[in-house]
Amino acid sequence: MSDLSTRTTLPLPIETERLVLRPYAYDDAARVLDIHGRLDVIRWLGDPPFTPMASLEEARTWIDELNALPETDLRCVGLAVEVRDTGAVAGTVMITPCPNSDPLDLQVGWHLHPDATGRGYATEGAKALLDAAYAHFDGSTPARPLLGEVWCGMYPDNHGSAAVATRLGLEDLGIRDDPWYDGDSHLFRTTRDHWTGAGRKRPVR
Ligand SMILES: CC(C)(COP(=O)(O)OP(=O)(O)OC[C@H]1O[C@@H](n2cnc3c(N)ncnc32)[C@H](O)[C@@H]1OP(=O)(O)O)[C@@H](O)C(=O)NCCC(=O)NCCS
Repeated sequence: MSDLSTRTTLPLPIETERLVLRPYAYDDAARVLDIHGRLDVIRWLGDPPFTPMASLEEARTWIDELNALPETDLRCVGLAVEVRDTGAVAGTVMITPCPNSDPLDLQVGWHLHPDATGRGYATEGAKALLDAAYAHFDGSTPARPLLGEVWCGMYPDNHGSAAVATRLGLEDLGIRDDPWYDGDSHLFRTTRDHWTGAGRKRPVR
């Protein structure tokens, strides 16, 4: 059975006004399949080829891999974004390793089911995750390694995702050669000082 709670040291769940960010469980596999089985969602995630998820078994494997993220680096975590009012899973927010980075670079990411967009859930969920991660991963003990720089990259034409990054107040580095993925990306970044400091613009809502 997939179980994140024994692996991450981040206090969970993370709660916001409208959302509960909590580990995925196998009970969520059908919803995961419904999200990752859609080309219009997965075509924005990572490098091609884009192969939609096709089975509940693949969904459970995805859940296992997400829940194993802290084993790669304790600061990494992937969480289901559950809507408090309905109990429905809107999508995922996560802090993950940037591919092939050594020393490890970290990135924040998000994706929603199309039926959950247009409500601010990605921005609200990602803000809560970054707030919690920067508060917890402060370098005070080995279980709480310091979270410093966090990157966020997207396809240059992913205007919806760029709008999330902008609403979060991430630093906009423009479109440039992506250090971790093929081709150019629209890159954003934050740091501990930037995220927790007064300089960062707050989300519009
Ligand atoms: C990228 C993605 C998460 C953006 O979703 P989103 O719903 O547009 O983003 P948010 O959750 O922040 O919602 C913002 C929208 O909700 C609206 N909104 C409605 N009610 C709101 C509320 N109470 N609070 C905040 N925003 C609200 C905002 O006006 C905004 O709409 P607009 O873009 O038409 O102005 C989504 O399109 C997606 O999952 N895409 C596919 C995967 C993907 O691209 N992931 C990112 C890879 S880098």
